[in-house]
Amino acid sequence: MLKKHFLLLSILKTVVLLNNVLTNNMPPGPFPLPLIGNVLNIGFTDPLGSFQRRYGDVSTLYLGNNPCILLTGYESFKEAFVEQADIFTDRPYFPIIDKLSKGKGLIFSSGHMWHQQRRFALAALKYFGVGKKTLENSILQECRFLCDSIQLQTPFFLSQTRFHLVTDAVANIICGLVFGHRFEYDDHKFHLIQEYLDDVFQLPISNWGRLYNQFPTLMSMLPGKHQTAFASMSKLKPFLQEEIIKHKEERDPSNPRDYIDCYLDEIEKDSEAEFTEENLIYCVVDLFGAGTETTSNTLRWALLFMVKYPEVQEKVQSEIDQVIGQTRQPLMDDRTNLPYTYAVLHEIHVRQHYYLHASQNGQQGHDSRRTSHFEGHFIFGVMVLPLLKSILQDKNENSTPYEFNPAHFLDENGKFLKKDSFIPFSIGKRLYPGEQLARMELFLFFTSLMQCFTFLPLEGRTLSLKGTIGVSSGPEPFQIRAVPQ
Ligand code: HEM
Repeated sequence: MLKKHFLLLSILKTVVLLNNVLTNNMPPGPFPLPLIGNVLNIGFTDPLGSFQRRYGDVSTLYLGNNPCILLTGYESFKEAFVEQADIFTDRPYFPIIDKLSKGKGLIFSSGHMWHQQRRFALAALKYFGVGKKTLENSILQECRFLCDSIQLQTPFFLSQTRFHLVTDAVANIICGLVFGHRFEYDDHKFHLIQEYLDDVFQLPISNWGRLYNQFPTLMSMLPGKHQTAFASMSKLKPFLQEEIIKHKEERDPSNPRDYIDCYLDEIEKDSEAEFTEENLIYCVVDLFGAGTETTSNTLRWALLFMVKYPEVQEKVQSEIDQVIGQTRQPLMDDRTNLPYTYAVLHEIHVRQHYYLHASQNGQQGHDSRRTSHFEGHFIFGVMVLPLLKSILQDKNENSTPYEFNPAHFLDENGKFLKKDSFIPFSIGKRLYPGEQLARMELFLFFTSLMQCFTFLPLEGRTLSLKGTIGVSSGPEPFQIRAVPQ
């Protein structure tokens, strides 16, 4: 019975696919095969680079039977997400996302609901000091905890995102903003929350997630990692509910302490019932999921590159020594006087995106619900995949796009060179809402680590610059030595 159902479904999908390919005025792309689409056209070493080379900055790629518009290049990004922002802002529908978050929260919601949640998140982040001294002080406090803990660990082990000090430190910044408190690095509950979040956030970009998107009914009956992630989401909720209950008991509405307090205020005021406790849980999950792995991965890449390029590490440290010295902590105001260090951080972002795979951008697509005339093609109801990596590695932007070279962000006088096309946080209405927060975290954590330690390889070990697949790509697990300065 199940086999018959599957066969009928496959035939139907193939007919729809052929109809789409033959009648749509879609951008160019390779001819798709039934069920698997263009999977065979995606290269292993440079998954989607070949599409850009053969078809230009706007091409069609079939993920299974579903057509997507693949965007590469800054100009096509600008046209879609800035000039036609009203059309290309919603998220596409994925069964896996629907199952995990019911289309709620911040990252995967669309329309009025997304607009409301995003407006609120931006206001809350601003209220709690993004770009202000209060937040800077709490990040600096976390930098001290991190450096003290690294001092006790040698060699310093940097595993996958789970359970390592850098992720703990970064997660604590979100904890402060959302819960109003931090966790000790050896807190079992803290690690459980991170473990569950990791399961949930890795699922949509995993093969299990892709299978679920293709065959949701079938997959919901089968065992696999998707079931672990669903269970993790269920286990995560009571932790967050416990925090919400505590906040309800202790809060003073005239003096909100954190994101949850502000959200509870909004629930009381909201007549459209879009601000609910359930939605609060999904928003908190999104803030942790989006705000922890990304920043922690960038910092782990930063340490790895410093070990791989000791001459760059030395230059960064001597700049920090000259401008800040060893007696005080780095401050955001030091940024303008540390052009080399700042350029190194930007270059690390570019390298990190080099390792981003096609699959990771898949969940950041934008849905065009209305017909639009885009680069000479009529587009309707298809997913759009922006490939950020293509912009960051554009030969016209960076003289040596495949080399780690901080000079990409320096002018001839050694001053920091700002580039419009540097958009690791994306552009348009979906631009990452806490860009300033991430910039602050990256700068303060990186300069603090460079001020306190020299990072060296372990004798006889070769460090790999290969990236892992994740929401954002991290380096493979590695061990290094941290020698106090
Ligand atoms: C190195 C650090 C980070 C990078 C590179 C980064 C990058 C991105 C990118 C590329 C997007 C997708 C934008 C789009 O769909 O066009 C995004 C979305 C998002 N990020 Fe980040 N991010 C970082 C850190 C953070 C942090 C610390 C937070 C926590 C406040 C955060 C929260 C979010 C949220 C909530 C969204 C969804 C926005 C929406 O759909 O409206 N991110 N980020």
